[in-house]
Amino acid sequence: MFPTHRPRRLRNHSQLRRMVRENSVTTSDLIYPLFAAPGSGFAKEVTSMPGVYQLSVDKIVEEAKEVYDLGIPAIILFGIPAEKDDEATGAWHDHGIVQQATTAVKEAVGDLLVIVDTCLCEYTSHGHCGYLDVGDLTGRVLNDPTLELLKKTAVSQAQAGADVIAPSGMMDGFVQAIRSGLDEGGFEDLPILSYAAKYASSYYGPFRDVAESAPQFGDRRTYQMDPANGQEALKEIELDMAEGADMLMVKPALSYMDIIWRVKQATHLPVAAYNVSGEYAMVKAAALNGWIDEERVVMETMTSFKRAGADLILTYHAKDIARWLG
Ligand code: PBG
Ligand code: ZN
Repeated sequence: MFPTHRPRRLRNHSQLRRMVRENSVTTSDLIYPLFAAPGSGFAKEVTSMPGVYQLSVDKIVEEAKEVYDLGIPAIILFGIPAEKDDEATGAWHDHGIVQQATTAVKEAVGDLLVIVDTCLCEYTSHGHCGYLDVGDLTGRVLNDPTLELLKKTAVSQAQAGADVIAPSGMMDGFVQAIRSGLDEGGFEDLPILSYAAKYASSYYGPFRDVAESAPQFGDRRTYQMDPANGQEALKEIELDMAEGADMLMVKPALSYMDIIWRVKQATHLPVAAYNVSGEYAMVKAAALNGWIDEERVVMETMTSFKRAGADLILTYHAKDIARWLG
């Protein structure tokens, strides 16, 4: 008799398919990004990201309540400061926009986990993720002086009530610097989710519209990773683990599923995948044109992230996913 093996036997009944399903997405896996802006009663949709808004702190609080009611465990906060300067003052100031939003959300929905993105590009006048040399027009960020600013930023975010610190600037030693700052400040129990393998990607375009953080000159290729490299991601995560990272992130997600897989195989720490702005924008554009089935495409993509090894998924689709999962 041919064929002897018939894998289709397990595919014929929907209940059996359900029983042998290896991976699934749950609302518990999701982290929803939010963008805090100055003012009140302010909500501005981003053209390149339908459904994503810059929100004033009062609106962030409303949104946080909705996110919590949908069963999503966490948000990650980014900030659009009123003013930018060379010291990224808006990033580490006690009354910085992210600090304000963090405190307000924790007061209103204390049980929602508030993760804060710890980087400087939204706050520097030139849009790079740290200090530049005087007259530098290439964007080669000065590593060690930037660590001091990141440390200061993380401590002020912790003081504002953040639950998790997520450094994203790809500076060498940033996990260790932030860990020591937090420990000295009495925040030894605050976990660090490191953007450990973050690539210099063109998929960040729409994010830079919403966060108003595009570099004014040069690019981020002297600090973010070369998309051609896979082995190097393992070096990056090894360093971050040694420096005390509690969770590791791979970013972007869609074009980097091999990296998610390799990272997951190389660590016992939880792995997060960032389904970035450009990935969202492509799906939204096609869906709005009626060219794809949005729900099915999104769920298939999320399931693939889980299959690749992601434990957590940062995604602008989070609210929709929570609704679809019911
Ligand atoms: C800041 C930061 C970026 C993203 C998250 N944190 C942008 C960048 O590196 O330019 C991108 C997120 C997205 O595209 O959704 N360092
Ligand atoms: Zn940055």
